[in-house]
Amino acid sequence: MRLPDSLADLGKRRIEGHPVEGFVYGTGPDAPSLMLVGEAPGETEIHNGIPFSGRAGQKLMEFLAGLGLSREDVYITSAVRSRPYVWREKRDGTKKKYNRPPTAAEIKAHAPLLDYELQNVQASIIVTLGNVGLQRLLGKEMKVTEVHGQLLQSSVRHLDEHNHYYWSENQYAIFPTFHPASIFYNPKLREEIAEDQKRLKELLEEKEKFV
Ligand code: URA
Repeated sequence: MRLPDSLADLGKRRIEGHPVEGFVYGTGPDAPSLMLVGEAPGETEIHNGIPFSGRAGQKLMEFLAGLGLSREDVYITSAVRSRPYVWREKRDGTKKKYNRPPTAAEIKAHAPLLDYELQNVQASIIVTLGNVGLQRLLGKEMKVTEVHGQLLQSSVRHLDEHNHYYWSENQYAIFPTFHPASIFYNPKLREEIAEDQKRLKELLEEKEKFV
């Protein structure tokens, strides 16, 4: 599935004026077993155009390998398609762009793009990676620490023409887990991610029995 260029252009226009750079398309098959929803690309991704190809991506590929899957088997996207950055001074006094989490306005700016993917990619399970993807789909009350590792059957938030979120009629199977970069800041999450991976593998095996 490739996002239509008209929607990519819309996303670029809607996010203009925010401190973001580059644009990375979601990639993957039309009917994958999993659709992965991350946060936003980082520096590596905006240079090569491949989602999750940096340090976090390496962790994500290990996670997929444990499920018997590779990048080509899944659809990979994120709440925001451009890299949110902030200028900060380095120790030597020079300035450098650092990654930062996307703001609510930036997530909204790119919401029509993710909506299109949700409606057009026929994934058995949507895996949200971290709070940004989770909350974009299921609202701010959801916390990855509370719901990770569970399969939720739920409507998701789409954006209407007045720029407000509404709940979809369609129900989706959503499996929240942590963002793969989270273990860089909190190595203790490694075990919880491994548990989630095990559960997700069982769910995929169960789904396979019914196709
Ligand atoms: N984090 C994301 O959410 N997406 C990427 O492509 C890289 C890091």
